[in-house]
Amino acid sequence: MRPIAEQTILVTGATDGLGRQVALDLAEQGATLILHGRDHPRGAEVLADVHRAAGHERSTLVLADLSSLDEIRRLAAEVEDGFARLDVLVNNAGLGGTPDRRESGDGHELVLAVNYRYYDGLEESTAGPQAYDADSRRRLWTLSEELTGARFEL
Ligand SMILES: NC(=O)c1ccc[n+]([C@@H]2O[C@H](COP(=O)([O-])OP(=O)(O)OC[C@H]3O[C@@H](n4cnc5c(N)ncnc54)[C@H](OP(=O)(O)O)[C@@H]3O)[C@@H](O)[C@H]2O)c1
Repeated sequence: MRPIAEQTILVTGATDGLGRQVALDLAEQGATLILHGRDHPRGAEVLADVHRAAGHERSTLVLADLSSLDEIRRLAAEVEDGFARLDVLVNNAGLGGTPDRRESGDGHELVLAVNYRYYDGLEESTAGPQAYDADSRRRLWTLSEELTGARFEL
């Protein structure tokens, strides 16, 4: 396995909470981060912190609302086209449930849409040959498994 300082790691939901802290911890170890957010000013603030923590400016910000399938596809294409390698995908972006059912713009239950659905698009896009090399295997860390409180209509 490559040293962290030689790895490129995509962290979804890097603008707050666990995702932000994971990104900063990895940056302190020298990793190159692809930081995902959905708000440019907040993402730019985290990117500046990551640059300071890493001591280099190789990291990048990408933006997408992960409740939208179109946005997920666009982000997947951006990652596939824009980055030569990806060692780790940290599936962190997510939200908690509420007593009332909420739906994404695509008409899916919101917690299910955000905490689970986006994996498919991102994982497929990052599973191509460019994600691998002779001594490295892409790894997935999944933090956003929370489904408590999601309201289903079965
Ligand atoms: N904290 C816990 O006790 C706990 C327990 C079990 C599971 N988890 C899971 O761990 C993950 C992180 O939790 P946390 O407490 O750090 O959450 P958090 O502070 O609320 O951060 C969640 C991150 O996900 C992003 N996000 C939410 N909805 C999004 C959307 N539609 N499109 C793009 N990004 C979106 C948020 O972006 P914005 O900043 O733009 O809102 C934020 O960056 C979540 O998936 C959560 O379900 C947490």
